[in-house]
Amino acid sequence: MGEEPTLQEEFERLFSVFQISTKSVLQEAIGYIPSKKRGRHADIGEFVGKKRKITENSLSLSNIKKHFPKGIPDELAHLRPELLDQVMPVFDHKTNVTWDAIAGLEEAKEKIKECIVWPMLHPHLFRGVLTPSKGFLFFGPPGTGKTLIAKAIANECKAKFFNITASDLTSKMHGDTEKLVTTLFEVARHLQPSIIFIDEIDALLSKRTATEADSPMLRMKSEFLTQLEGVSSKDDRVYFIGATNKPQNIDEAARRRMHNRLFIPLPDASARRMIIEQEILEDKECNQNLSKEDLKWVVGNTKGFSGADMALLCKEAAYKPVRQMQLLGKLDNIKARPEFDAITLEHFKEALKTRKSSVSESDLEDLKKWNRLFGTISSK
Ligand SMILES: Nc1ncnc2c1ncn2[C@@H]1O[C@H](COP(=O)(O)OP(=O)(O)OP(=O)(O)O)[C@@H](O)[C@H]1O
Ligand SMILES: [Mg+2]
Repeated sequence: MGEEPTLQEEFERLFSVFQISTKSVLQEAIGYIPSKKRGRHADIGEFVGKKRKITENSLSLSNIKKHFPKGIPDELAHLRPELLDQVMPVFDHKTNVTWDAIAGLEEAKEKIKECIVWPMLHPHLFRGVLTPSKGFLFFGPPGTGKTLIAKAIANECKAKFFNITASDLTSKMHGDTEKLVTTLFEVARHLQPSIIFIDEIDALLSKRTATEADSPMLRMKSEFLTQLEGVSSKDDRVYFIGATNKPQNIDEAARRRMHNRLFIPLPDASARRMIIEQEILEDKECNQNLSKEDLKWVVGNTKGFSGADMALLCKEAAYKPVRQMQLLGKLDNIKARPEFDAITLEHFKEALKTRKSSVSESDLEDLKKWNRLFGTISSK
């Protein structure tokens, strides 16, 4: 078709997007094209097309630019730029989580301070017999603070935080996805101290099945296990944390490499109370009329709720007066949030008619059982 860009235009576009030298693109293109077809327009077109697809799948190289404004360091120059870009650490200043923001989970927090925070901050002291294990598994019901804790660790240790979900990795599964894993760990080592946090780790390190022999998934898994082994044996300040709701599905070899397996349980009464305080009482603009007794009632009637369920319940209760005022046609007169009618116990009672715990008894039992078998801290 006449409108198609010429080969040269395509390459020029590529060079500007990838910010890499003509030579390295050509080398890669030549490697990609079977030797007897080398130089054929169609094959180069296909190569460029693939590259473009990767780029347009939001792999903009802005991450590399942000982290390495002077260009990719020599030690990482052998890695593919688009993979490098994909695994760069996230700096999310808006979600700078502190320990105080995490309600309850005292036992888990203590263990984490002991095994990650102190060694990360004072590496010269934690040697020999005190050398920390660096593979962690956080498991527990959904919405109990696993991600929150990982962010708090990265924040408190001023470590680089690599946050990837297993589906991010598996959805991009193609011929050499295992290279993405290698790249991830290499970059984390280069930028240490680092924390690699992988959510839904069970999807990635699930028990192996016969059907996946020599599949990209299996290769990725093997590479992962090798890298996890490296994390534990090397003297680097690189920690790995996997999070899951289904630890039962994790491959035994992977389980063994995550030495610390911490159960992150549902919030107890005092943690539930703290979440209500964080969501409502500490929100300075929030007009509320909740007594200590009211809070006690809410806490007593939310047994089995996760932290996320509690946060949603507070939101639902807070919306009740807004909706009432809207029905009465008063919403347009409101100039600032404190002018909304106060949130009361009645609003919580109303909200509780629709908001229930999202965690089933049987799932919870399975998790507790797994904790008794393989967990590092006790469950109550
Ligand atoms: N212990 C907690 N303290 C304070 N807030 C919490 C706590 N647990 C959960 N929350 C609330 O729930 C939200 C979700 O928490 P988080 O993402 O850490 O859960 P998760 O355990 O990672 O869940 P999932 O298994 O679904 O990934 C938080 O943003 C916060 O509002
Ligand atoms: Mg999470």
